[in-house]
Amino acid sequence: MSEFERVASVDDVPSGGRLSIFVDDIPALLVRVGDEFFAVEDVCSHDGQPLTNGPVGGDCSIICPRHGAKFNLRTGAAMCMPAVVGIATFEVQIRDGGVFARAHD
Ligand code: FES
Repeated sequence: MSEFERVASVDDVPSGGRLSIFVDDIPALLVRVGDEFFAVEDVCSHDGQPLTNGPVGGDCSIICPRHGAKFNLRTGAAMCMPAVVGIATFEVQIRDGGVFARAHD
């Protein structure tokens, strides 16, 4: 089981904001929606585009800026073409003013 590692301070990411991080040496994107934080692999499953600058949707999704594939931030599931495979998500905890993340078991 991987350990949680501190990836940011809560104050580093305003609501609606995002931050590029690494979790277990994997490039990831930390996204804040309201008071919820999500961490997802920062690579589109369609053709490898970083999702870093992709728009975040009101349905808790992120859209690949290259061809428009959409992924659920909670589950990583692909929500539309051209992606047919989801992306990895990471477990996130908030404590002591910090954001901690780890790979799912
Ligand atoms: S690389 Fe993301 S939709 Fe094509």
